[in-house]
Amino acid sequence: MDHDGATVARSRQERTLFAGEFFRHPIRAGAVTETAADCVGGFLDEVRMAGARTVVELGAGSGAITAELATRLPDSSRLLAVEVSAALTDRLRTRCPEVDVACASAFDLPELVRERGLPPVDLVVCSVPWTLLGEERDRFLGAVRATLSDDGAFSTLLVAHRAREGGVAANRVGCHFADVRAGRVLWGNLPPLRGLHADAG
Ligand SMILES: C[S@@+](CC[C@H](N)C(=O)[O-])C[C@H]1O[C@@H](n2cnc3c(N)ncnc32)[C@H](O)[C@@H]1O
Repeated sequence: MDHDGATVARSRQERTLFAGEFFRHPIRAGAVTETAADCVGGFLDEVRMAGARTVVELGAGSGAITAELATRLPDSSRLLAVEVSAALTDRLRTRCPEVDVACASAFDLPELVRERGLPPVDLVVCSVPWTLLGEERDRFLGAVRATLSDDGAFSTLLVAHRAREGGVAANRVGCHFADVRAGRVLWGNLPPLRGLHADAG
């Protein structure tokens, strides 16, 4: 198979895997397909990566963000990807063999960091569905903040209308982080997405 053929076959495989996950766990998966490549690029363009040595991705799925994040981080960085689905975790490990992948809940982040003896985290990138966090949002955001260094950064990718400045998500994030900023709307996904970026403060 030529290079283009292999890329098409891989993206078809990715779509099938993710759609299967969505049909088994629609709320948890939060999307029918993995995030489109141009949205991943647009989102990561806004993420503060300079000086990020210890990085965590939460809700890594089949690795759409993970693969691109790994190429953009400095070689000396350490990336831990956390994904709750066993099926997606298997795919993630094959796709990103250089990344430390944990099949675990994002809520367990403090223990995952402790078990690995990681220093305070410089950057957390998250795409765990906002709706799923429900009543637990503050506990989740508090746990993320507790793992970050004081000059660390938090970036989360949400459905666009949820990520607007002054909206519910931005206000909740603002209870735990400083300088909350909405990114630009990323139209290449259905539904369109948007990053929400904040500093540990
Ligand atoms: C919208 S998808 C994003 C997947 C991938 N990052 C992407 O952009 O294509 C959300 C992902 O979060 C995962 N997820 C949901 N709840 C989680 C939790 N508590 N801990 C870790 N991952 C979770 C889902 O299994 C799913 O893979």
